[in-house]
Amino acid sequence: MEIGQRMVATAVAVMSFAVFLGVVSADPDMLQDVCVADLASKVKVNGFPCKAAFNETDFFFDGLAKPGLTNNTLGSLVTAANVEKIPGLNTLGVSLSRIDYAPYGLNPPHTHPRATEIVFVLYGELHVGFITTGNVLVAKTIKAGEIFVFPRGLVHFQKNEQHTPAAVVAAFNSQLPGTQAIATALFAAKPTVPDDVLAKAFQIDAQLVEMIKAKVAPKS
Ligand SMILES: *[C@@H]1O[C@H](CO)[C@@H](O)[C@H](O)[C@H]1NC(C)=O
Ligand SMILES: *[C@@H]1O[C@H](CO)[C@@H](O)[C@H](O)[C@H]1NC(C)=O
Repeated sequence: MEIGQRMVATAVAVMSFAVFLGVVSADPDMLQDVCVADLASKVKVNGFPCKAAFNETDFFFDGLAKPGLTNNTLGSLVTAANVEKIPGLNTLGVSLSRIDYAPYGLNPPHTHPRATEIVFVLYGELHVGFITTGNVLVAKTIKAGEIFVFPRGLVHFQKNEQHTPAAVVAAFNSQLPGTQAIATALFAAKPTVPDDVLAKAFQIDAQLVEMIKAKVAPKS
């Protein structure tokens, strides 16, 4: 091959790979009908290894039927229906959660590194929003029967601004979207993030960092 031809071939290969990466931007595609997660397996793979035998119980979950208890500090509870609860979801690239909100409850700013989220309001009214990487807040108040979308990886929140409870069903294009709560990640990590890192990042003094750390325990 001429040098020119080789460069063209390389460029085409690089572009094809980029297109391939674009296609698998959510969970990877399945290669068989089912791969029911063997949650007890010691084998480490991307996802879970498949169980040899399975039945209908591996595809069933009734844990979202009733409201979760929201009598905690923030006044919200996320109940996940992901591969850890429904082994049959392994390799299928979807999952749900139910989120319940006490009056004025908050599901605090957090991200899902592996999934876009779409919420459907069961009842109540919520102020919801996400923040783009350009630091633009995209927010709206939504009520029963309405939907809002939180793009993958972006920081987002939901706040009940009514004196009555609220609930949503949330769908994800991942069997295990992962959740990183911003305040918890920064102020309740173990081992702890050094005070001087947080003091400089937030432009506050170390005493205030300590105060926040004392308050932001992992969500109870
Ligand atoms: C399904 O399989 C599980 C073990 O994985 C077993 O405990 C359960 O009894 C089975 N259920 C039915 C309805 O066969
Ligand atoms: C929340 O309410 C439940 C049931 O009423 C109770 O068992 C639990 O201790 C309460 N939790 C907190 C943190 O108050």
